[in-house]
Amino acid sequence: PFLISATVAAHSETHSHVDLAETDAVILLDQNYAQQLGLKILAKDNFGKTAVANATPMQMQALSVLMHAKNRCGGYERLSSDLSMASAKSVADSVIADMNQRLAQNAVEATRMSQSIASEISTRPELLSAFEKVSAEAQEAWVDKMSSFQTRYHDSSTPNAHVEWLVGQLQEIASKSSLPITIDRIEHRRTRQNSVRVRIEGKTSPQEIVGIGGHFDSTVGWRSGNRRSPGADDNASGSSNVLETFRIISEMEQPARSIEFYWYAAEEIGLVGSAEIAAQYKDSGKDVIGVLQLDMTLEAGSGPMVIASMEDFTSPWLRDLLVQANSTYALGVSIVADECGYGCSDHASWFRNGYSTLMPFESSFRNMNKDIHTSQDKISSSSHFEHSSVFTKIGLFFAWELANSNRRAP
Ligand code: BES
Ligand code: ZN
Repeated sequence: PFLISATVAAHSETHSHVDLAETDAVILLDQNYAQQLGLKILAKDNFGKTAVANATPMQMQALSVLMHAKNRCGGYERLSSDLSMASAKSVADSVIADMNQRLAQNAVEATRMSQSIASEISTRPELLSAFEKVSAEAQEAWVDKMSSFQTRYHDSSTPNAHVEWLVGQLQEIASKSSLPITIDRIEHRRTRQNSVRVRIEGKTSPQEIVGIGGHFDSTVGWRSGNRRSPGADDNASGSSNVLETFRIISEMEQPARSIEFYWYAAEEIGLVGSAEIAAQYKDSGKDVIGVLQLDMTLEAGSGPMVIASMEDFTSPWLRDLLVQANSTYALGVSIVADECGYGCSDHASWFRNGYSTLMPFESSFRNMNKDIHTSQDKISSSSHFEHSSVFTKIGLFFAWELANSNRRAP
């Protein structure tokens, strides 16, 4: 019933990753913060959103203080370090040029959406049955297992222990399914950790791909090594939503388009796994209709059933689809708009390569779980598995609706 294929490599030209804390960093962040900190701005986009700036080690510390004061973790994306000023400027210019192009594309998309009569979704009975299989208990069991590995850090002494466990689970699920399923480990250039991909071959339009994924690695900050890093919320939670979505879809009929599920490697050091995969897909001209990113779904920081929809590095037409799903299928969530201000997770990798993305998130940015990237990111009294399982319903809706219609970016 299924095929196990060999390990494949994600090909794309990337410069090797140098992490030098002692030298200036080139970072992408919110324009306002860059200005507040008086950073040397190398380039800014035309939409008043993000800037690429040079930051000295002392400015990086000031940034960290500012972000903690704002209740944000991280707050920036390191593009590279140890670059000469000339090459930093050219990296900045090309990142911002891409950004301008994608933001302009989003503006066109939004205009087209407002002009055309939206083709509204209607209830699919098979999705209602699928939703009945979603449970808080199943979500808890997966998160419990995934967070029990000592660490899922990309550069620990066992970078693929949890990856191999996952492949085993996927094989078991696939063996019970009648669908054409392929399971791949994807090797990377910049990390020894593998990503995992599952593909359900589409029946009528197999070359059209609907993607859903989350990062499977964890971290406890700078060079985690083998230190305890449970990463329950960040991101055993989203990884479990993706796994449950696959499990439930494996029991359904064959979709018209292909559906792919991803568990990315080494997100925590700069979106490494997803960046290589998305670049390879673009290079080989793959027709990806849209990609859903699930990263942190476990803490209901803005209240149970209050979720955010990130508006940067995501696509208006998919955000609109999420709003429609909530009313048509009575998902019972309220959705607040928010943004990261930088490429905070793997959806940014797809978006930068020209693909449509969606990123629903556990809470507003300011109310997010404060224990991520520490040994305390484990199942606790503030874990909310009912809240978390809503994201499996979102995954099911996203994959099933898009894989059985001819919707695409307007
Ligand atoms: N899950 C976090 C990011 C996140 C935080 C998403 C808040 C949405 C809201 C992710 O794993 C992470 O830690 N990202 C890094 C940036 C990345 C480029 C290394 C961060 O936010 O600092
Ligand atoms: Zn993280």
